[in-house]
Amino acid sequence: MHLNAFLMGVGHHEAAWRHPLTDSGRITDIRHYEELARIAERGKLDSLFLADGLALRGEVTHNALGALEPLTLLSALATVTEHIGLIATVSTTYNEPFHVARKFASLDHISGGRAGWNIVTSAGESEARNFGLERPAHSVRYHRAEEFLEVANALWESWGDGAVVNDRVNGIYADKSSIGPINHDGQHFKVEGPLNIQRSPQGRPLLVQAGSSEDGKEFAARFAEAVFTAQQTLEDAQEFYADLKRRLPAYGRSPYDLKILPGVSPIIGSTEREALQLEKELEDLIIPAYGLRQLSHILGADLTGYPLDGPLPPLPPNPDGQQSRIKLVRDLAEREGLTLRGLIARLAGGRGHRVLAGTPEQIADELQEWYQNGAADGFNIMPPHLPGGLADFVDLVVPELQVRGLFRTEYDGRTLRERYGLSLAGVS
Ligand SMILES: Cc1cc2nc3c(=O)[nH]c(=O)nc-3n(C[C@H](O)[C@H](O)[C@H](O)COP(=O)(O)O)c2cc1C
Repeated sequence: MHLNAFLMGVGHHEAAWRHPLTDSGRITDIRHYEELARIAERGKLDSLFLADGLALRGEVTHNALGALEPLTLLSALATVTEHIGLIATVSTTYNEPFHVARKFASLDHISGGRAGWNIVTSAGESEARNFGLERPAHSVRYHRAEEFLEVANALWESWGDGAVVNDRVNGIYADKSSIGPINHDGQHFKVEGPLNIQRSPQGRPLLVQAGSSEDGKEFAARFAEAVFTAQQTLEDAQEFYADLKRRLPAYGRSPYDLKILPGVSPIIGSTEREALQLEKELEDLIIPAYGLRQLSHILGADLTGYPLDGPLPPLPPNPDGQQSRIKLVRDLAEREGLTLRGLIARLAGGRGHRVLAGTPEQIADELQEWYQNGAADGFNIMPPHLPGGLADFVDLVVPELQVRGLFRTEYDGRTLRERYGLSLAGVS
């Protein structure tokens, strides 16, 4: 089983910053993240992951995405950790491949082969406005992302394995024949190359992706080595898992070349009652008006003014928004007959990801069930409050998974790609 720690401010629960278990003054404090990284490494987790957005989203609060810029933060964390993978979110819509390829090669060098890239296409309209642009259509964003990856991969390949000779006696630093231009000339990019940094330990970062629309799944099948996803029920997760794995052979890849990690926010108590009590405490701190704005943001539709105790109103079509998440929220509201207030509470824990409240054994049972029934290769762990929620997971749930033989007890392999049981072959 693979476990990734998804870090966000002082926790994933929308109201975490108001709970006495957290100190929301630490959101831009590097020591907070150092502590989180050390806890995750103590638990032998595969990787850390930082989400990012290129605009201040929704309400100004602790989990407005991207408090600290991920590549900068992970470069700092690389120096205080030894084993854990470091996955940064970077957009293909508002960046250039040369910059991005260079930055990930740098992080991979700094961390000794532990860099990962969560490739996103940036669904928010406000993000486009920070670059003087209109949000490109969904299909255009994914088309650009494909070409972006073709260029980035070519740049990472532009230095051969043995290019740096470092022959000080004969004065030959590099074998120029193993370093060459890429001469890419496409619809979105024109890049000569080669990259201006030597090949990194992994050659390229672990490629991670999180879009679940048709375009998103096709993109993942072609490029991604790990996929984050939000799934609420075992059946939906199994369907997504099978669907995505089925798409791999068309790209010359095997189902083992891609790991699927649904998100889980574990609310842990020493008894079930204690866990439910903590869940209730967090729920009582939700500010409904804020939740409504967050919900409006997810759905891309303004819900302010609708009665909180009424149903989710019919939504206008939003083909360029986050398709998979919009569907998940609509299905959830319908399946559970939720009012807007109920929906806000259900989403406060994990914005659509699964929330599990229970004892360490109960949480391990749930993870085991999904893992052993074709729904997951591992999980994206989203602690409701930080650092305590991560420490509880590492100290209470991880040992339970280890006793059951489901999770490693020691780190093996050197690179992040090895940690996920992957080789470099098979990504086009
Ligand atoms: C666990 C997870 C993390 C994500 N992190 C980010 C992020 O940091 N930044 C971002 O712009 N989108 C993020 N997304 C959104 C996806 O990249 C994608 O845009 C979204 O799921 C909609 O894609 P789709 O239209 O293909 O379904 C995340 C999604 C998931 C499931």
